[in-house]
Amino acid sequence: MGTLRDLQYALQEKIEELRQRDALIDELELELDQKDELIQKLQNELDKYRSVIRPATQQAQKQSASTLQGEPRTKRQAISAEPTAFDIQDLSHVTLPFYPKSPQSKDLIKEAILDNDFMKNLELSQIQEIVDCMYPVEYGKDSCIIKEGDVGSLVYVMEDGKVEVTKEGVKLCTMGPGKVFGELAILYNCTRTATVKTLVNVKLWAIDRQCFQTIMMRTGLIKHTEYMEFLKSVPTFQSLPEEILSKLADVLEETHYENGEYIIRQGARGDTFFIISKGKVNVTREDSPSEDPVFLRTLGKGDWFGEKALQGWTCNPFRTMGL
Ligand code: CMP
Repeated sequence: MGTLRDLQYALQEKIEELRQRDALIDELELELDQKDELIQKLQNELDKYRSVIRPATQQAQKQSASTLQGEPRTKRQAISAEPTAFDIQDLSHVTLPFYPKSPQSKDLIKEAILDNDFMKNLELSQIQEIVDCMYPVEYGKDSCIIKEGDVGSLVYVMEDGKVEVTKEGVKLCTMGPGKVFGELAILYNCTRTATVKTLVNVKLWAIDRQCFQTIMMRTGLIKHTEYMEFLKSVPTFQSLPEEILSKLADVLEETHYENGEYIIRQGARGDTFFIISKGKVNVTREDSPSEDPVFLRTLGKGDWFGEKALQGWTCNPFRTMGL
């Protein structure tokens, strides 16, 4: 028969077991809260993508219907930084406004842009220009900063305060300091996709559409001019018509490789044509896995490789390594 001491011991064990379970439940609840938060964040991001994709799709449907009825086509929906009738001369004369700000505010704006899915891929020089151009704006509690359906003209970064974002009367989220909002209408040339109201007094930084577009287009045009000059410096491309060179310059992208890094691997699927603007690469071919690769040649500035993949080959016949 168990003694009182045995019973006390068993009770202690059960209490300890319960304590451990409670601790585990607390831990799981915390994990659940974090997952809920992540789901909410991803849901918001998805909603944002949907709100810019849907108007574009609806517009495309409307357009194909109107084209069938013989109406003229309107310009396609696109990110608004597309070069239009401007040229680099026009834009290089535009002086952008400059608003001094503290290092903390500059950092806050930069970090907010890098944290925004739609703006984080801007070049650092563009982000710097946006930071310089932004001017301070303040709103009192319960003010409407952005109204859904309106034509948008400003992009904001919140320095201080809290706002609520709603769509068709339904709350989407609240946002605090260090967040960008109002970017969708400017980037996608659509009307405001949601309403943004203040919950407390807020301090914002704002940039207008024109400055924003000048920054985007100027960088795009400078890059285009640089790429055209580069292509014209490559003997093989010199005889190509200006129009073809310009199309090539439109699709060129700069990529960097470290010394010794493989650029393409023999046998891997190839879909990229490379032109070397700086540095050297070695081309080698492996005839059998048991033998060392055979060195074929070294390529340098103005040489190109990867063209076989574009000519319909599915696999790279050689491998190329940065030097
Ligand atoms: P814009 O459409 O210019 O104006 C309303 C802004 O609300 C929008 O840009 C985004 O910055 C923001 N917004 C729209 N939808 C969402 C969402 N689902 N979650 C968070 N912010 C949003």
